[in-house]
Amino acid sequence: MVPPRPLERRTRPNSGEARIVAAAEDLFERTLVTVRGQPAGALAALQTHLHDSALNYGEIFLRDNVPVMVYLLLQGRFPIVRHFLDLCLELQSSNTRTRGVFPTSFVEESGTIVADYGQRSIGRITSVDASLWWPVLCWMYVRASGDVIYGASPGVQRGVQLLLDLVLHPTFEGTPVLFVPDCSFMIDRPMDVWGAPLEVQSLLYGCLKSCCRLMELVQKGQAARLTQQRLELTRTWTRDLRVFLLKHYWVTSKTMQVLRRRPTEQYGDQQSQNEFNVQPEVIPHWLQEWLDHRGGYLIGNMRTGRPDFRFYSLGNSLGSLFGLLTGPQQRALFRLVLHNRQHLMAQMPMRICHPPMEGDEWRDKTGMDPKNWPWSYHNGGHWPSLLWPFAAAVLMHRRRRPSDDVLLMGQTRTMLEECYWQQLNQLPRQQWAEYFDGPTGTWVGQQARTYQTWTIVGFLLLHHLLRRCPEDVELFDLDETATPLRLSTWSRPVRTRATKKPADGGL
Ligand code: GLC
Repeated sequence: MVPPRPLERRTRPNSGEARIVAAAEDLFERTLVTVRGQPAGALAALQTHLHDSALNYGEIFLRDNVPVMVYLLLQGRFPIVRHFLDLCLELQSSNTRTRGVFPTSFVEESGTIVADYGQRSIGRITSVDASLWWPVLCWMYVRASGDVIYGASPGVQRGVQLLLDLVLHPTFEGTPVLFVPDCSFMIDRPMDVWGAPLEVQSLLYGCLKSCCRLMELVQKGQAARLTQQRLELTRTWTRDLRVFLLKHYWVTSKTMQVLRRRPTEQYGDQQSQNEFNVQPEVIPHWLQEWLDHRGGYLIGNMRTGRPDFRFYSLGNSLGSLFGLLTGPQQRALFRLVLHNRQHLMAQMPMRICHPPMEGDEWRDKTGMDPKNWPWSYHNGGHWPSLLWPFAAAVLMHRRRRPSDDVLLMGQTRTMLEECYWQQLNQLPRQQWAEYFDGPTGTWVGQQARTYQTWTIVGFLLLHHLLRRCPEDVELFDLDETATPLRLSTWSRPVRTRATKKPADGGL
């Protein structure tokens, strides 16, 4: 592995902040597109590839629209979010084998809505995360807008039940995690993330909680009685999932000492201390320095004999934000990020996954994927759009536990502030690129799109949470049930009309 380089910080505040934010807001408006004549969401990138019409950056991706919808909610632009949610619901698959699955992306072409459930992607893999995000966004919409009637409506409740059918059904194994193939979430090219990857499990936890909140809205009659059973089952599942993940995915320096000395090859009825039969030899040495004394994180995956110890930023941030981690565990995670800042933040916060796979491992496990070269794209690349979930996790912690470890939280907040300036100073010059390459994340990604929507809106969300209204982080609290949520009032940016067709290049 390439040794870490000393961090050269570009953290100067920028007197052009207001101008840059206003320019980003204008760009964001241009990403919004209409479906059936009404704004429905954002395309993935403003600059789509002119030579290959099969490339789909001009479509409305569900996952890319997560920060878009959150930002629109914070702006009080509820009809757009409602239209987006309705379209997704309408496109929820009714096919026998994929019933209940939400599409990866959709687009309106000559008056017809065309949806992709994975059948048009390179690896022909369905995006599991898109389906898991829908209830989370739906519940956030209900909370922010106070539109409880929509949440309790038969259409929404049916959508929730169809999705739960996919998750809560009997299977060949008894763990509460969701098994998925490689490439089924944001990491949508081979990266050896099949099985029970953390990002899907953290999101599943948030999804199940949101489904519970939505089901709780059904108060009366036959429907309420039927929902009640599902509600109990979902609550139990959520609890079991949390217990399972904290037991098998959470590691610290202390737990590592225990894990390395556990017996192996145990079978039979006795209580096993090593249920997944993990041999101590598979525990990588880099973990020693990575964990330091008081750091902790959720590992990337647990599979019999083959845990994945890589660090995945989004799964960890969501685990913290959605309250899967306890307060002390959240602080151990922030300590770990601070300690490994030269890797995880470097010149362009934040790295997607660490460490990258190189050499034979890259060849065997990615199938020589030319986009996932070491230090590029999903394989150790830096994605500016991954900073806001981490920032939200930190701000949520500070709100819920204002007096816990003030020193650590102060340092974490300072780091965030510096990361914000790094993005603000670089992203406009780098044309709001999709991702960045190399051990320090300095180079624009080799095949990165420019004017990528979630880079733009991720920065705007970060600006909103750090500089404008930190209290709006409350929107992510999936345990709070009071509606409508009192979001802060701030002067909304000028709203321009959404474009009819995806803008193609020409910036
Ligand atoms: C790439 C990313 C995926 C994203 C899509 C659209 O395929 O890997 O996560 O949703 O681009 O931006």
